[in-house]
Amino acid sequence: MISQELNDSLTHVGAGTDAGEVLRRYWQPAALVDELDQGRPVVPVRLLGEDLVLFRDSAGELGLIGRRCPHRGVDLCYGRLEDNGLRCPFHGWHFNRTGQCVEQPGEPEGSRMHEQITTPAYPVVEKNGIIWAYMGPGTPPDFPNFDCFRAPTTHVFAFKGLWECNWLQALEVGIDPAHASFLHRFLQDEDPADSYGKQFRDKAANTDIPMTRLLREYPRPDIEVEDTDYGLKLTALRHLDDGRTHVRVTNQIFPEAICIPMSREMTITQWHVPIDDENCYWYSMFTSFDKPVDKDLMRQQRLKEHELPSYAPRKNARNNYGYDASEQATETYTGMGLDINVHDQWAVESMGAIQDRTAEHLGKTDVGIIRNRRRLRAAIAAVQEGRDADLPMRGDVTAIVGPVSNDALADNGDLEQATCESDAARRNACPWDAQI
Ligand code: FES
Ligand SMILES: [Fe+2]
Repeated sequence: MISQELNDSLTHVGAGTDAGEVLRRYWQPAALVDELDQGRPVVPVRLLGEDLVLFRDSAGELGLIGRRCPHRGVDLCYGRLEDNGLRCPFHGWHFNRTGQCVEQPGEPEGSRMHEQITTPAYPVVEKNGIIWAYMGPGTPPDFPNFDCFRAPTTHVFAFKGLWECNWLQALEVGIDPAHASFLHRFLQDEDPADSYGKQFRDKAANTDIPMTRLLREYPRPDIEVEDTDYGLKLTALRHLDDGRTHVRVTNQIFPEAICIPMSREMTITQWHVPIDDENCYWYSMFTSFDKPVDKDLMRQQRLKEHELPSYAPRKNARNNYGYDASEQATETYTGMGLDINVHDQWAVESMGAIQDRTAEHLGKTDVGIIRNRRRLRAAIAAVQEGRDADLPMRGDVTAIVGPVSNDALADNGDLEQATCESDAARRNACPWDAQI
């Protein structure tokens, strides 16, 4: 458990807060490209507690500016998209994508007042289905050479979903390798052939054992955590009865993402992006090392579970997450259906909007969570002391690749080698350049 003061420091995201200032040193997913493609390219964005409007101007350039008009505060999401910017419908003040007011058509002829009027504006870039914003000071960092950024757009599918809770508890479920044996337990195994686009439904590594069975039958993993240049590498070892060891490598990407295997074909790189202190979006980049991603199928699967434009899950606290006691008795550990996203959503939302960490009791399997909090504290101190260069991935990031995320089965005791070989086999057969 930690003090209330530390819990506030690690979780709050507004400008000037401890963690908020760390998060502002990194590119943040602000919207899916899909959202701007729904007709008029203007969407509201609430990010790190700030209300913004994202738009594509007539030259095709993206802008992300303050949502409230600096004149008298109306909502610029209803603005007129014209003259290469956004024009407020109340009195016609016109803003370009740098946030500069360039015209005040109701003010006296020749007035230069507009030159003094600006609204917040943040740099944005588009990368593999996501629009990213940089809300911090100085020059934004470069994007590392992660697989999800290197892969061609045909091989990456991006989607998002709303979780009504603080971002840190959302992230912490992703660096907790033990929960998969319980929260995501299926009491029966599905046919892995029906696994496309789903997590934990494939066969485990190069075996015929369904992943669901392996997780169910071996619930006490040994978990190792290593510090890396991007964050943390987590290795979960499950020692099988036949003497072999199942090795599952997942990662935390500082400050708020994870990279995990989904199947032999795909990995998931997932950001837990603060909307404000009590809400977050997960943004996932599903990256294929094999065939182009069947985006229509993946989108359809996920749209069935989410409502637009909020991307709020149809199962939620208001309908008890679809909880069914008889299903819990016979089919799943949670009684909340087969979609593992719903299980994670229930776990992180039911803690309360911001988990009360003064009352928690961390065990040995929570080692990733402990190490990550330590790293976040170190980053907060670095920012406060003006040592931004000491933060992960704020310098030269060209050599930061992968991260390796996979399942392997080792029978000779060399677990590291088993992971490397399994990863190399996937990369060697990959149609895009995935060499690391
Ligand atoms: S409130 Fe926007 S121009 Fe007046
Ligand atoms: Fe999970």
